[in-house]
Amino acid sequence: LDHLVTSKQLTRTDIETVLDRAAEIDADPSSVADRYTDTVLGLLFFEPSTRTKMSFDTAMKRLGGDIVDMGSVESSSVKKGETLADTVRVIEGYADALVLRHPQQGSAQMASEFVDVPLVNAGDGAGHHPTQTLLDLYTIRENASLEDLTIGVMGDLKYGRTVHSLAHALTNFDADQHFISPESLQLPREVVYDLHQEQEGAQIREHDSLEEILPELDVLYVTRIQRERFPDENEYQKVAGEYQIGPDHLEAASDDLTIMHPLPRVDEIAPSIDETDHAAYFEQAHNGVPVRMALLDLLLSGDGGDDDE
Ligand code: CP
Repeated sequence: LDHLVTSKQLTRTDIETVLDRAAEIDADPSSVADRYTDTVLGLLFFEPSTRTKMSFDTAMKRLGGDIVDMGSVESSSVKKGETLADTVRVIEGYADALVLRHPQQGSAQMASEFVDVPLVNAGDGAGHHPTQTLLDLYTIRENASLEDLTIGVMGDLKYGRTVHSLAHALTNFDADQHFISPESLQLPREVVYDLHQEQEGAQIREHDSLEEILPELDVLYVTRIQRERFPDENEYQKVAGEYQIGPDHLEAASDDLTIMHPLPRVDEIAPSIDETDHAAYFEQAHNGVPVRMALLDLLLSGDGGDDDE
């Protein structure tokens, strides 16, 4: 890999390479502590972030390197009208790799065409969030299995970039994927079409109710309704608060059900579930560090798998 823009470019081998490397690092972080002492990672976040930005920052520092942070849009020259193409071309002169989050879908692909250093998409609008997918897969592998997986993905499937990236990646593992949402927030039709193209005989099912599928699930991946992406606040209000999971649901679920969420959550998962063995979402967020360390190691060492995109 030169750049990581979308999970569609990841083969099963690429994914397993990153996850295996992350597991090695997780087991012995000191083995890579001084590997990148002269390396700087550029963080360009045009949208808010807690987990992605801070875990990339931690990952680079735990590899021995440092970060340079563009800061907020308000405090940078983006405020003066500098284009994204110019911004990335400037910052690639200060850094050995770039991490970009931007509100516009397709922005990471466009930006990657202007730079020679590796560029990682940390979320492009309602498009993709491939490093979230890698840590999601790592968490699934730790708590359930990527083989014979039956997963339910619930919430905002229209605007949720974590969902789009995860769904594409799971076609590599022939997972049974069940998508649960109100009709207005179903997966975009082009995503469903692509999933069927990627996985012959794909098990892709859509539901408007969790109850009908919950007992069959190994993993339930819950997402936030992406309020900031709705063109009309009234449309958000129509679906806000729907598709929550609470303790009553657990009675119908498998004892081994793993509940995940990319976070931040608003009200999708009742806090009482946090204390159960089902809850994997804080562990999931913490897995961002070893997984991003592994990805940076593979990108910076030029040993990033068999995809040449
Ligand atoms: N999951 C995720 O992308 O969280 P942040 O928006 O806090 O980075």
